[in-house]
Amino acid sequence: MDTFEDDLYTVTVVGDVRDPYPDFARMRAESPILKEQMFENTVYKAFRYHDIDTVLREAETYSSRLFGPVMGIVMGPSILQMDGAEHRSHRSIIGGAFRRQALTDWETSFIEPTVQSLIDKFAGRGDAELVRELTFHYPIQVIAKILGVPVEDYRTFARLSIELISIAVDFDRGMKASQDLRTYLESIVAARRVEPKDDLISMLVQADIDGEPLPDDEIYGFLRLLLPAGAETTQRLLGTVLLGLLENRDQLEAVRGDRKLLTNAIEEALRWESPVQMTSRENLRDVVLSGVEIPAGSHISVVIGSGNHDETVFDDPDRFDIFRDGPPHLAFGEGPHRCLGEHLARLETTVAMNALLDRLPDIRLEPGDSDPHVHGLAFRSPNCVPVAFTPQ
Ligand code: HEM
Repeated sequence: MDTFEDDLYTVTVVGDVRDPYPDFARMRAESPILKEQMFENTVYKAFRYHDIDTVLREAETYSSRLFGPVMGIVMGPSILQMDGAEHRSHRSIIGGAFRRQALTDWETSFIEPTVQSLIDKFAGRGDAELVRELTFHYPIQVIAKILGVPVEDYRTFARLSIELISIAVDFDRGMKASQDLRTYLESIVAARRVEPKDDLISMLVQADIDGEPLPDDEIYGFLRLLLPAGAETTQRLLGTVLLGLLENRDQLEAVRGDRKLLTNAIEEALRWESPVQMTSRENLRDVVLSGVEIPAGSHISVVIGSGNHDETVFDDPDRFDIFRDGPPHLAFGEGPHRCLGEHLARLETTVAMNALLDRLPDIRLEPGDSDPHVHGLAFRSPNCVPVAFTPQ
């Protein structure tokens, strides 16, 4: 294995927490809105499902503008930090790109071929470590195709994208990655201005808002958001679906027998170990959540991973159970900022799972000396998924 996977693994593990759920349960019971001092800022953390749902849905009260001074510094202006009409007009520029027909075209033209060629590399061997050999490499290649950046460079921008979103851990490294990513993208953006193609970069350079072209800063803002958003989260989801099913053989067999159950497995993995564990808002007026008064202008951090384990909403919430009924999970957020790529993430995961189940019918977990488990604080996914199967 080359150092690419090692580097990626190092930057991916932000907060090596194995099981945050007992603490979350205690917070939901005793301190559902936790007031914490973080440097000069007071942060209110929300742990209950219904509080999180409210904060994310009521966008006129709970603004996203606080992302400006945080993510805006490293990404440039992006829809993540916009509110109201500005957010709607900018989001609609790329919203159309992820429509159902586009997904169907992408599935056959490059999503399926990408996953098949990755499986080709280990199918004859009889064993594999699926995080390092599949999930790290797959969604980043897919988003590269969608954006229109050369797939052969994917190792470079995979590393830069992850360094960029790890800015909270290493500020200087995050800022350098941001600049390097822009430098890398500049020649591609320039080429699409001269000769547009059927890709998202061409869509961005041709877009206008009220007759004005998108400023360069916003084009790079979009791209710096989409690369990590498209790659980093989906690889985590696929790893968790794999581990959840491989650790629960009866559920794996059920999915093998009825592939429609893959939909349940994916939704359950999103709930059980949400890849993105938290996001934040600023309240524009005084509010009360779970009986706690929060003054206008506060930083409210919503702990999605806790909301998705709220025992008042989900029975036996720490259990992976693809047969559970219940309200929707919050893993893709809610309200106007709800994830733009959710259908793509589901499609990529479905295609990969079907390919693995078709090609490696007796795939099973083979931990050996390793200790496969889900971990992480801000983002969560398995550390490894070692498997064995009859060589194909
Ligand atoms: C399992 C995979 C994914 C998860 C768990 C996930 C999670 C999320 C969450 C929680 C948000 C809301 C953030 C907030 O409200 O502050 C979000 C927003 C967003 N996601 Fe995803 N995401 C995933 C995949 C993707 C993919 C594949 C793409 C793109 C290709 C994408 C693009 C975006 C964008 C552009 C936004 C910002 C939307 C806005 O601000 O209006 N995501 N995502």
